[in-house]
Amino acid sequence: MTNRSIDELCSVLEAKRKEASVGGGPKAIGKQREKGKGIARERLSALLDPGTFVELDEFVTHRCHRFGLEEKQTLGDGVVTGYGEIEGRRVYVFSQDFTVLGGSLGEMHAEKICKVMDLALKNGSPCIGINDSGGARIQEAVDALNGYGKIFYRNTISSGVIPQLSVIMGPTAGGAVYSPALTDYIFMVEKTGIMHITGPAVIKAVTGEEVTSEELGGSLAHNAKSGNAHFTASSEEECFAQVRKLLSYLPSNNVEEAPWKETGDDPLRLVPGLRTVVPTNPNKGYRVHDVIGQVVDDGDFFEVQPLWAPNMVVGYGRIGGQVIGIIANQAANMAGCLDINASDKASRFIRHCDAFNIPMVTFVDVPGYLPGTEQEWGGIIRHGAKLLYAYSEATVPMVTVVLRKAYGGAYLGMCSKALGADMVLAWPQAEIAVMGAEGAANIVFRKEIEGAEDQMAERNRKIEEYREAFANPYVASERGYVDRVILPEETRREIYLALQGTANKRELRPRRKHGVMPH
Ligand code: HXC
Repeated sequence: MTNRSIDELCSVLEAKRKEASVGGGPKAIGKQREKGKGIARERLSALLDPGTFVELDEFVTHRCHRFGLEEKQTLGDGVVTGYGEIEGRRVYVFSQDFTVLGGSLGEMHAEKICKVMDLALKNGSPCIGINDSGGARIQEAVDALNGYGKIFYRNTISSGVIPQLSVIMGPTAGGAVYSPALTDYIFMVEKTGIMHITGPAVIKAVTGEEVTSEELGGSLAHNAKSGNAHFTASSEEECFAQVRKLLSYLPSNNVEEAPWKETGDDPLRLVPGLRTVVPTNPNKGYRVHDVIGQVVDDGDFFEVQPLWAPNMVVGYGRIGGQVIGIIANQAANMAGCLDINASDKASRFIRHCDAFNIPMVTFVDVPGYLPGTEQEWGGIIRHGAKLLYAYSEATVPMVTVVLRKAYGGAYLGMCSKALGADMVLAWPQAEIAVMGAEGAANIVFRKEIEGAEDQMAERNRKIEEYREAFANPYVASERGYVDRVILPEETRREIYLALQGTANKRELRPRRKHGVMPH
């Protein structure tokens, strides 16, 4: 029983809210801005639709009484959590506040994150985390570690059920990087976003290598070198625009369809420009983006991981307003061959599309696997197997378009009929064979070529003979491995009709706990 008036009680609450809203205080906020970084709550305002953010747990504090931490209590404990909307769709969010103990993660900070992760899963909504943290709160020791463990567990349980996105806008170090790594997509801001397991000082001490933090774990390192990140942005604003754009292609959970959007672009229109994009000479390069851009609605293709494994192109687009996931060999890079990284990139993307009911369209122009000891010893066998596994496991509608080369095991790996493609389309210049005509002629007709008077002429004759016999789409179409040979200009319409034809696809698999995917 209190004898204070309601106004007095309300002003207590208002004061607490005010205290919570300033996080680590003006000095720490000033330092944060000097580093070119945003403030936790402001970041959420920039990400979410205006006025939609509902904060949870703003008065939570830590329970640590060691190393002077009991003197450092800040309402909210260094992370702002809650929910809001993006384009009118609910998302759950957390945003680490570096101004409070360096955004470090202790027991209660972790509990707040776990609470929104649980709500996101229960409500079937995406979960977005903005990471800006010194890692495990050193004073809280094993409680901090346990907090990370609880987050990793939830990341895993939510995987394939709701989209999980990680935004890296500050340091993310040590084992802390494993939460982002367990989520679907990582966005990084250049210069400020850093991820590494061991930092430059430890590396220098152990291996003697000298490297800056940015070189080691900056956005470009992870977008172009390690493949850990999927999107890079030069500013926080650009990064949030990427997050919002990505979400426009994803359903909120695995029992919903991806959001349909009226684009006004006639899905049945012919695209005459497609006739001249792909050279008939199999040795000539071109950018597969020039095919994709002409096929999707309004030329709008949202590419994932454009800087890593550029011999494989993956991303989202729409045809007739319906979201599709696109997987394509990039003839302009390493002739579009499959290697370890390309296999990893595509197989993860395929699994993501399949988990979230997004039909897939695969554009094939692949000469084979990249030869070399580096690839063989690096495990191209097990990495390449992931591609076979991912396509074979997928049950969403799958349309394959063979643009030109489709050779050997790589032909099979790029969503062939045998792996489960619902519709295989092929262009007139498609060559579906065990290998290219030159290689094949050298093996099959070796004796004739060696025995000929004019070996060069004989070789060319034999190459032509093989090309005439097999370097076309018709042998495969005679067997039904290709469903339709089409004119390039019909591609958009044919994909649309194939997607219409498979819209009600239901495919059941034998019951199992889970498969054992090649690693
Ligand atoms: C407690 C921390 C902290 C941490 C930073 N701070 N990291 N407090 N635990 N992990 C505090 C600092 O003491 C400082 O407090 C304030 O946050 C701001 O930090 P600064 O160092 O002034 O900022 P900056 O110069 O920008 O450097 C940022 C930093 C650096 C690079 C992140 O703070 C740093 O190296 N921190 C330690 C990183 C680390 O080793 N973390 C543990 C990783 S192991 P005051 O009071 O001075 O303002 C880990 C294991 C996870 O995370 C395992 C999961 C399985």
